[in-house]
Amino acid sequence: KKVLVINGPNLNLLGTREPHIYGATTLADVENALQAQAEQLGLALDCFQSNHEGAIVDRIHQARLDGVDFAIINPGAYTHTSVAIRDAFAGVAIPFVEVHISNVHKREAFRHHSYLSDIAEAVMAGFGTMGYDLALQFVASRLR
Ligand code: DQA
Repeated sequence: KKVLVINGPNLNLLGTREPHIYGATTLADVENALQAQAEQLGLALDCFQSNHEGAIVDRIHQARLDGVDFAIINPGAYTHTSVAIRDAFAGVAIPFVEVHISNVHKREAFRHHSYLSDIAEAVMAGFGTMGYDLALQFVASRLR
C-alpha cells in the first residue's frame, strides 16, 4: 500500500523556525523517521514539501495516478486559506489525515478554522512532530 506525506509552506524550515512552537526536529528528521516506520509497517512512503499552493494541488492530482491509498498532510498556513487544496482532495477522493505540530486551537483565532478538517479522516494537533508518527500508525491500521 502507498502513503504520501505532504508538508506545506515553511515546513522546510522545521528545526529552526519558531522552535518554541515547532521544536528542534528538522523536516529531514521527520521524513527519515517516517521512512523507517513505513518500512517496518510494510508501506511504500513518498514525501513531498512545497511552499506553493498550486504545486501541492498538482501533487494531490498525481497521487491518484500513482495509486496512493492514503495521505498525511500538514498544509501549514494553507490550512486556514486554501479551498483549492480542499477541492483537490475531494476531487481525487484519497483519504487523508491532517497533521499540525502545534495545538492550533490554543493559538490565534485565525488558526482555529481549517478548510480540510471536515473532509479529513482524522486530525492531529499539538502532538509535536510525533503527530506524524502517530498518524502513520493510524494509516497503517486503516490499510490493514
Ligand atoms: C501548522 C499550524 C499552522 O497554523 C501554521 O501556519 C503552520 C504550521 C502546525 O504544524 O502546527 O505553518 O500547520
